[in-house]
Amino acid sequence: MNLPPFKLERYFAKYEFSTEYLLCSSDCESMPIADLLALEEAASEKFQQVWLGYTESQGNPTLRTEICKLYETIQPEEILVHTGAEEAIFLFMFAAFKEYDHVIIHSPGYQSLAEVAHATGCDVSPWLAREENGWALDLDELRHLVRTNTKAIIINTPHNPTGYLMSHVDYESVHQFAQENNLLLFSDEVYRESEYDFATRLPAGCDFGDHAISLGVISKTYGLAGLRIGWIATRNKKIYEKMASFKDYTTICNSAPSEFLAEVAMRNRLKLADRNLGIIKDNLAVMDDFFFRHVDLFTWIRPRAGSMAFPRLLKGDVEEFCDRLVKEAGVLLLPGSMYDDSRNHFRLGLGRKNLPKAVEKLELYLRKE
Ligand SMILES: Cc1ncc(COP(=O)(O)O)c(C=O)c1O
Repeated sequence: MNLPPFKLERYFAKYEFSTEYLLCSSDCESMPIADLLALEEAASEKFQQVWLGYTESQGNPTLRTEICKLYETIQPEEILVHTGAEEAIFLFMFAAFKEYDHVIIHSPGYQSLAEVAHATGCDVSPWLAREENGWALDLDELRHLVRTNTKAIIINTPHNPTGYLMSHVDYESVHQFAQENNLLLFSDEVYRESEYDFATRLPAGCDFGDHAISLGVISKTYGLAGLRIGWIATRNKKIYEKMASFKDYTTICNSAPSEFLAEVAMRNRLKLADRNLGIIKDNLAVMDDFFFRHVDLFTWIRPRAGSMAFPRLLKGDVEEFCDRLVKEAGVLLLPGSMYDDSRNHFRLGLGRKNLPKAVEKLELYLRKE
């Protein structure tokens, strides 16, 4: 297996814990354990009693029952809880693919989706989202990408890093296409429930049939990345069982305190999502204003969901821009090159409370320049 360094993680490792203003985070504002426990009566006392032995490998049944509420057709035995979405991505790719298979992947995107697939020996074709199309994917292109050895389509909607949300019609067509061509559809839905307009929320992939695997996590919309709890939901028994058996070689089971806290979070997920969506919407208003004032410097395609956008710097080199900004103003933006983007985009994070202050610093920096 050959896995190159995870560019985005290495970039964050350099700055994340030493920079005051993270203006490119993908997760929403987090909270201390005490605030989460305060959402439920007696949760604090119960937390003290959590047993610190090994836990059930598939995930605590009561947690899986809570997670099921995200879906229409999924039973607790069709949820496999992991250590973050990251472990689930890793296990899915090795469970589903082998050398000489071919996979089609939504691009640009979260690096491990393509990289881990590639590490299994697969051939990977990017299915390109283009800024000039408002970051939409073109279904005709998908038809041309399919080969006789294609095994799966991997999509991420709401999308990291563009904030693009597929239309209902396109989403249903992708599912239909996967079913007709006997392909798996891995649907990375870690930003689901953060749509700015409820009517645009897509049904979960796993509810379309056993060709689909939905990926979820507590890190993003609900803002609890430190719990490291993610999951897959699928009616595909073969994939489920293979992933479950591989999990014995990675983490065996999940952290008991994290599972307890994740269950509290999932019972209160609408409150958490509402709180975070409030932060995002306030921040969007700040960004709308900012980009309106700087049309000569940046493109701005307003996201439709999630905690990120992918604007483009119109003058100069984005890597140099981000480098100087973090060193001189203490504001971190993520250059698009971390996504193999060569068109001067950068990732902007919308989920943190200190965004207005970070934008003030950015604006001061621009004025100085
Ligand atoms: C699209 C996408 N999928 C999966 C993950 C992994 O989530 P986690 O870090 O919570 O495991 C991320 C994290 O940024 C992501 O953006």
